[in-house]
Amino acid sequence: MIKFNKPYFVIETNSLTYAFKTLATGHLEHLYFGDKIVDSDLEFLHTKLTAKARGVIDYLEEQGRDIPLDLIPLEFSSSGKGDYKLSPIELKMPDQTFVSDFIYFKHEIIEGILVSDKLPSPYDDEKNTQTLIVTLKDTKFNIYVDLVYTSFYDVDIISRKTIIRNEEKQTINLRKIMSMSFDIYGSQYDMLTLDGGAIKEAQKHITPVAFGTYINSSVTGNSSYKHNPGVILLEKGTHEDYGNCYGFNLIYSGNHYTAVDQSSHGILRVMQGINPAMFEWDLKSNEFFETPTTILSFSSKGLNDLSHHMHDFVNKHLIPRQFREVDRPIVINSWEGFYFDFNERKLLGLAKKAKSLGIELFVLDDGWFSSRNNDLSGLGDYDVNLKKLKHGLNGLSKKIHQMGMKFGLWFEPEMINPVSKLYEKHPEYAIKIEGRDPALGRHQLILDMINPEVRKYIIDEISHIIEDAKLDYIKWDMNRDMTDMFSKHISNQGMFYHSYMLGLYDVLSQLREKYPHILIETCASGGNRFDLGMLRYGPQIWTSDNTDPIARLSIQKGISYFYPQSCISNHVSMSPHEQTLRKTPIDTRFNVSMFGVLGYELDFKFLNAFEINSIKKHIETYKAYRHVLQFGKFYRFNEDPKVRMNFQVSLDDTHVIGNYQVLAQPNPNLEVLKIKDLDQEKVYDLKSLEQKLPLEKFGHLISHALPIKLNPNKALFRLLSRFKQLDNATEEAHISGNVGMKGYKMKQQFMGTYYNDQTRMLGDFGSQIYIIKESR
Ligand code: GLA
Repeated sequence: MIKFNKPYFVIETNSLTYAFKTLATGHLEHLYFGDKIVDSDLEFLHTKLTAKARGVIDYLEEQGRDIPLDLIPLEFSSSGKGDYKLSPIELKMPDQTFVSDFIYFKHEIIEGILVSDKLPSPYDDEKNTQTLIVTLKDTKFNIYVDLVYTSFYDVDIISRKTIIRNEEKQTINLRKIMSMSFDIYGSQYDMLTLDGGAIKEAQKHITPVAFGTYINSSVTGNSSYKHNPGVILLEKGTHEDYGNCYGFNLIYSGNHYTAVDQSSHGILRVMQGINPAMFEWDLKSNEFFETPTTILSFSSKGLNDLSHHMHDFVNKHLIPRQFREVDRPIVINSWEGFYFDFNERKLLGLAKKAKSLGIELFVLDDGWFSSRNNDLSGLGDYDVNLKKLKHGLNGLSKKIHQMGMKFGLWFEPEMINPVSKLYEKHPEYAIKIEGRDPALGRHQLILDMINPEVRKYIIDEISHIIEDAKLDYIKWDMNRDMTDMFSKHISNQGMFYHSYMLGLYDVLSQLREKYPHILIETCASGGNRFDLGMLRYGPQIWTSDNTDPIARLSIQKGISYFYPQSCISNHVSMSPHEQTLRKTPIDTRFNVSMFGVLGYELDFKFLNAFEINSIKKHIETYKAYRHVLQFGKFYRFNEDPKVRMNFQVSLDDTHVIGNYQVLAQPNPNLEVLKIKDLDQEKVYDLKSLEQKLPLEKFGHLISHALPIKLNPNKALFRLLSRFKQLDNATEEAHISGNVGMKGYKMKQQFMGTYYNDQTRMLGDFGSQIYIIKESR
């Protein structure tokens, strides 16, 4: 898996090779990262410099070791010795200079993973990993940098992190230290990032990389929905099923940073780590600093394949192991149905209806504690609001459990409202700076997670509630970005952001250990902290507060570049949608939400009988295909997202495809359904799920479909529509694998004026689900 054959280091996974070597100067030259190399002779991978070049600095020219660092793809770099590409490390050295020069000192190869005791680390239960630690030493000072590489052989992932140790007497000041950096040849790359904001998370953007530095980062104190930490570097022309691409993602939930630096001579440096903005770390004598872990992968087969590596890593090596491959329950969440306005009777009514439809987990969202009747007050307090819940959480939980459902609760543990009992007692728990009015976000301040007393308070209070209410599930929310960064518990305020994260991870890991059975779903105003760090503690994340299925298509697609469906939590909600005012059919709301962990977030009393019946059927379908939908291989398609989108999941001999029409086209083309991952030699049964058309869909055009004339504004129409729905075309076919891969010819869509029950009636926002199974 990992080999050292002086001077070569080779790290292999199932289908990838990563190689670098030590140069005569002791610096490390990056040689290769790509498909597995079969030849063991790595000589041909060197950069071939045969003569001096104009305008470059030679490292130690007088000793005959005239290596121009600027011209060589490096594995890591230092500052001030002639490599002018963006440096992965910036230190104020004991001599007060910024010049450092790290060269090979020693290395070690160990079985397994070098686990961190403070930061989220992946695990390996199959004992299929090896770790290489290459120690570099500064040429002047006793300062060491460990480059740590782990091969996750089975999932084609290599992880990297960096550890710096100060063995000098003086404290040194660290200003930037990346988890990884390496250089490749290349001036023909694009950068794929997932950007957005509240209710528009993870929008895919492709930026051409030209000369200069391209940065994807966050400064909000969390990983942020402005810029997710995952980044892909793709060769021009790469798409979902073709081309060379590198993927990087950071196991971290704070300020992150990825830089792609295109320098002269066609060298492209990529690095990822903690954002150096507002970062400083005082490294005292004999202390070390460890970066978060970055995961790296490569595919020569396009973006879908790259995502599969990322997904397998999350499912097999990252989420809490007790949830590995474990089917997640279907949720009813009280938020959008009731907001703060509920009582025990209303909640039990909702739970009862949910149970009758097949829902398995009842989640009480915000508003169950203190004075929390709106978002102005109460955060930080844990006393149950007995006006709303007359039998307390314990009483409610008992009744929910008696119904045969699981019970879960919302918390926002890192927050405090200035109007709260906690603030009255401990104003010093809140993050703020003396002499400045702190900026509020959603009327709240953030608790100082660096303060051990605060961490203890949170753990004690949550533990008490978990035990009293016998919780099965926790929604861990975080609803504002950071400002006014200060803590008296650190010596240098440049340590603030990272120390906060260490505090948060401490609390999460203590609770995780104490209550291993609890399913934690994390959330931050939707997807403001959708990252690998949080996934180490909670295996699923609330993707977005935008549950409009059409808006959700691009959100779920974006998130899927790095994160598997098992961690993407999706809820069906009301139409028209509260964030977009868009009206969408109940089928489409389900057809989109089913590609992930399904839930419902609405008050059933506002649905009609047709919608309620549909939900019952949807839940049956979801349960039948749940494992495929949560753990199958997810495929994206190359399509115009403004017109039509498709999702596919495949597991063993079952494939589920969602076909979504974003906007109806007049007199549309005949279409095919392209199916991936079929065996060309095999035969498959294809069928679409039955969907009915409500009469409202036709409105005054109902006479096209029924032999009678009806006025949609009259009571008779409304009465009839309660009992009668029209048939929509279904498909059933027996096809060979190669026909499916090339594209199954679907029935025509409505082409104007003429309708019958064999016509696909999608209209705007219509969709259909196809199930394809190997024929027996
Ligand atoms: C955030 C979350 C929502 C809900 C509310 C409660 O906005 O994203 O899902 O929990 O907080 O206040």
